[in-house]
This record gives sequence, C-alpha cells and structure tokens, in this order.
Amino acid sequence: MKIRFADSRPAGDYALVLPVAGKDRSTLNPLGASQKSVSAALDQQRFEGDASNASEQFIDDNGSVRRLLVVGTGKGVAPADAAEKLGGTAASRLQTSGEKSAVVDVTGLGYDADAAARIALGASLRSWRYDRYRTKLKDNQKPSLEEIIIVGGDAGAAERYKQRWAAVVEGVSLTRELVTEPANIIYPESFVDRVLASVNGSGLEVEVLDRAAMEKLGMGALLGVAQGSMREARLLILKWNGGAAGGQPVAFVGKGVTFDTGGISIKPAAGMEAMKWDMGGAGAVVGAMKALALRKAKANIVGICGLVENMPGGNAQRPGDVVTTMSGQTVEVINTDAEGRLVLADAVTYVQCNFKPSTIIDLATLTGAILISLGHEWAGLFSNNDDLAGKLQAAGDQSGDKLWRMPLAEPFDRLIDSPIADMKNVGPREGGSITAAQFIQRFVDDGVKWAHIDMAGKAWSDKVAATYDKGATGYGVRLLDRYVEEQLER
Ligand code: BES
Ligand code: MN
Ligand code: ZN
Repeated sequence: MKIRFADSRPAGDYALVLPVAGKDRSTLNPLGASQKSVSAALDQQRFEGDASNASEQFIDDNGSVRRLLVVGTGKGVAPADAAEKLGGTAASRLQTSGEKSAVVDVTGLGYDADAAARIALGASLRSWRYDRYRTKLKDNQKPSLEEIIIVGGDAGAAERYKQRWAAVVEGVSLTRELVTEPANIIYPESFVDRVLASVNGSGLEVEVLDRAAMEKLGMGALLGVAQGSMREARLLILKWNGGAAGGQPVAFVGKGVTFDTGGISIKPAAGMEAMKWDMGGAGAVVGAMKALALRKAKANIVGICGLVENMPGGNAQRPGDVVTTMSGQTVEVINTDAEGRLVLADAVTYVQCNFKPSTIIDLATLTGAILISLGHEWAGLFSNNDDLAGKLQAAGDQSGDKLWRMPLAEPFDRLIDSPIADMKNVGPREGGSITAAQFIQRFVDDGVKWAHIDMAGKAWSDKVAATYDKGATGYGVRLLDRYVEEQLER
C-alpha cells in the first residue's frame, strides 16, 4: 500500500476518513452541508468517539456518493497513540472494502509531523497480510486499498515517516513473515536465506555458522537440541555499526526454534501447530536489526539468532543426557522440551566471547508458564540490572510492546542444581519462567548487563488489535527499536 501526505484533499474518488475525539465533533467541520446529517446518524448509532470505534456512512459530496468513515480517537489519548489507532482502524475497515484510495483528513486536530506520520505507521502495520498460500480468494476478499493519503498534518510528516517509521514497518513485516511461515518452509537454513534476501543492501554485516563451525566451538547445548532433526542448525549473526567506532556493542539474542515438538519429551498433539512460531524471539531480533539498519541508527548492535528444529528423531537427545555447553558448564537435560534455554545458553556465550557486549537482551518464546503469569498482555522481563530493566520497561510503554518485571533470586537458582552435572535444564513446575531465566543467567558473564524477555504470550495473537490482525504480531521489533533510540542514540 502506498502512503502519501498532502496539504489538502485531492479531487476524485476516495473514501474519506475523519477522526472524532470523544464527544467533540468539531473535526467534522470539513463536511460542510453534510455535517448535520452525519452527526445525527452518529447519534443514532450511539457513537461516542471512543478510540478505534468506527462508523461508516455514505454522504452526498457535490452530487456524487462518497464513503465516509468516522473513526473515534478517544478523549485524552496521546496524539501519537491516537494516530496509530486511527490509521490502523482506517486500514482494517477499508482494506477489502472496494475502495482504492482513502484520505485521512486530520485538519483541526493539530497533529505534529510525528503524529501525522504515525497514522501511516498504524495503517501500514494493520494492513499487513500474508496471502501466499490462499489460492482461492474471491475477488471481493482481496485487498482493494492501494493508497492512503494523509491530509492536514504538519509539514515534515512525509519525511518523518520515511526516515523513522517506514523502517519499522519493514522490520515488523519481516518478523511477521518469518513467524507466519510454517515449519516445512522456514527451518534454520531457510530462515537464514530468507533474512539474507530481505536485508540485502541494508548495510547489515552478516555471518552464519553451520554445524561444523559450532561443533568446533563446543556448542554442545544448542547442537544437542538440533541433533534429533534432519535440519541442520545455524547461528545467524547480524551486525550494525552505526555508532562510534570501537564502542562496545549491545547484543540482541533470539531463540529461533523453527519448530518445537518437544523432542523425546514430546508435546501433546492439540495445538502443537503453534510451535511453528517458537522462533518469534529470533524473528524479533532480525526484524529489529533490519529496522535499525534502514533508519541508520547511530548505535553499535549485534543480533544473534540460535536456529534449530526440536524434533524426536532417532538421533535425538534423551532425557538424562548430559551436554557440555560452549561455556564449559555441563547440563543434565531432564526435559528435552526445555530446549530454548539450551539454545540461548550457547548463543549468549558466543556473543560474549566474540563481541564483548556491555549489554545483552535476549528474546524468547521460552515458557508456557509466562502465559499463566501474564496472559497475552505483557511479556515477562527478567534482568540483573535495575537501570536496564527500567529503560526497557519505558521503551515497552512507549512502543506498546509492554513488559512486566519478574524476579530473579538465589533460591530460584538453587532449584536447577543437578546431582550429576553443573545444572539441569528444568526446575519444578512452580515458577517455571523464573527458573528458565535463572538458567540463562548462569551463562551471563560478571559485569555484563543482561535482560531476558519471555515473549511466549506475545508472538502470536488470537485477537485483532489496532496495529495487527490475528496471527503474528511482530512483538519485540518496536521495543528494541525504541530502546535503541532512547538509550543508545542520545
Ligand atoms: N516453546 C515452549 C514454550 C511455549 C509454550 C511457548 C507455549 C509458547 C506457548 C518451550 O520450549 C517449552 O516447551 N517450555 C516448556 C518448559 C518445561 C518443559 C519446563 C513449557 O513451558 O512447558
Ligand atoms: Mn519446548
Ligand atoms: Zn520452545
């Protein structure tokens, strides 16, 4: 979909989108003669201008029929948020409506360049869809909307969108595509191929390790997970050097389990198809790296994805196996379904050995237990550093990718001691997200600031929201993008 910004409404055919902030109908003034009847219709529909509420009507516009979509932007909602919801609501209502063009007229709302640009952001994010495998869509089920024109924002909106938000749209779209693709299409090697094709020309530096390279490094935990699958593991490393030369980078580490059957500790059949998105952390990392590169972020970032498929093949690891990690620490694998932490352990060691990051932020669809704690609203945040945790929570609030802090403490750490090895890969059922985080922490070097984001409840949504449809959300891209903007580019 094309995005344009204009000073005034164009001539011709388009659906007109007007915002209404709560009960204040003054933004309908541009309707002139039709305003009174439109307002009466809104009353009859009990329309109160709440955010994301919409009313569709057809009006007479100088003798021709025009579709009018009135969208509530709420009362007292911050302009940036209201704008994203406005764009998202307009896009979702009009995408397959038959209209080719929509004009969102925010004259009278006093939107600055960023707020106006965020209408486009919301619309672009909300109109993402993946029709690759739908061969029988009827014409009236296919998208009709080709462009959105935003009228009445501050000058500079077009530039703001291009510089700042178009990059985020690209990043989120890449993440959603990877998360949406089934596991027969996206496995470690093809994940790498898809990412390389997508970030080609972005200025990101790329490195890929295959099994032989990881064997040499002694990555026994990651490779132990991969050994039950016909698909070979990969470690994908993306580097963005937009900051001061020689500065210590920040590392993003993603869990990329392209399918999680549970391995020999196999999962129940019902709902297992969801485990195609067990690479959501890795998806977020590559999406964020793409966004940061496209907008030329002034920061040094390295993004690492541990990519494996967890399968119960004849060579699969068994419960009770002991593996030696790249760090030298040994792990008793009690449950082969607790595989994400094994992958992250070696990825974290690798990034510390090779890049000496000041800060590590890992993202993973790590535990079902985090869904029990936080449902689908917040991702869980664990950190060894209060300052980092606070900054990430702030970035979460500002970006909409929300985080809720969970505890780490020695009594939880004790729960993963093993009688035969340095640790075991699971603790008791209680506090399962916390012991998973404690496990990862055992691989974080002294002095490294570290945060772990358990996003098992956020990668995929069964509900629609302002900026995404059901399915892959793209969670994490905007969080990391915002964190970099606020903390590393200042
Ligand atoms: N990928 C799953 C976690 C998960 C579960 C993500 C549901 C999204 C929705 C992870 O690898 C896993 O299987 N975790 C186990 C850990 C347990 C064996 C200690 C879990 O949460 O049940
Ligand atoms: Mn698992
Ligand atoms: Zn998993």
